[in-house]
Amino acid sequence: MRHLISPLDFTKEEIDSLLNLGADIMNNSDKYAHVCDGKKLATCFYEPSTRTRLSFESAMLNLGGKVLGFSSAQSSSAAKGESVADTIRVISCFADICAIRHPKEGAPSVAAMFSKIPVINAGDGGHNHPTQTLTDLMTIKEKKGRLDNITVGMCGDLKFGRTVHSLINALVRYENVKFILISPEELKIPDYLRKEVLDANNIEYIETSELEENMHKLDILYMTRVQRERFFNEEDYIRLKDSFILDEKKMQYARDDMFVLHPLPRVNEISVDVDNDKRAVYFDQVQYGVYVRMALILRLLELEDKVK
Ligand code: CP
Repeated sequence: MRHLISPLDFTKEEIDSLLNLGADIMNNSDKYAHVCDGKKLATCFYEPSTRTRLSFESAMLNLGGKVLGFSSAQSSSAAKGESVADTIRVISCFADICAIRHPKEGAPSVAAMFSKIPVINAGDGGHNHPTQTLTDLMTIKEKKGRLDNITVGMCGDLKFGRTVHSLINALVRYENVKFILISPEELKIPDYLRKEVLDANNIEYIETSELEENMHKLDILYMTRVQRERFFNEEDYIRLKDSFILDEKKMQYARDDMFVLHPLPRVNEISVDVDNDKRAVYFDQVQYGVYVRMALILRLLELEDKVK
């Protein structure tokens, strides 16, 4: 039985094959409409979510399966003190596969240790968000036609943004990927990512606080929100929250074939006047997330042979 806890749990070849499966699902959805008949997905969310939870639920419903779960710790027996280990043992009696989001880093990994069903990390603290990474990779591949030979700008909260950490981990496995890491000094990427991932893989990158002057170099601009819920101090959040605001004026510095991604939710970091720009693909990204989660469910339940 396999789980998806870290973006590196699948090899590069397995990721490529998942993205191909996601593309086939997108183009031939009828073929997949009953593959999960009789199967159940549990969504155990100890932290707020709109996209990830509903995207998983939509994915399972599209495959003919059913869904159950809870959307906050307060509405589950975690509020009475139940551990993640006990909860997943219980969920294993109710469902065939489980997506779990938790504020504590490593909680999905603990769940996987005690689970009888495949566990998917739907976001753990400031650590990882591997299914957002699959979504981001599918978006880049569909829009640019490749994952090699790209320069990716990551802008905003690179310290607490788990989607940034997961995406860097995944992209360093492709050829000639360069990063321009744009953030305030206090929100730079964690040290371990710089040393153990970027430096260890001889990846070309720069760290800067300048967005405009780097726009013309980018194939992808990955905007992120400043993660209020991870700050110890509200004053620091207020001081940093509007460090970067992408608007149509700044988009004039970008190439015609550059695409803007954002894992969402957006707060102020992308002005709504960018939404109508053909290079703004963050709502397409949400749709790709459903297809790639369908692919992931099929893969972890080993149901691809059932596709006619
Ligand atoms: N991108 C993402 O994780 O969004 P949600 O927090 O709404 O799930």
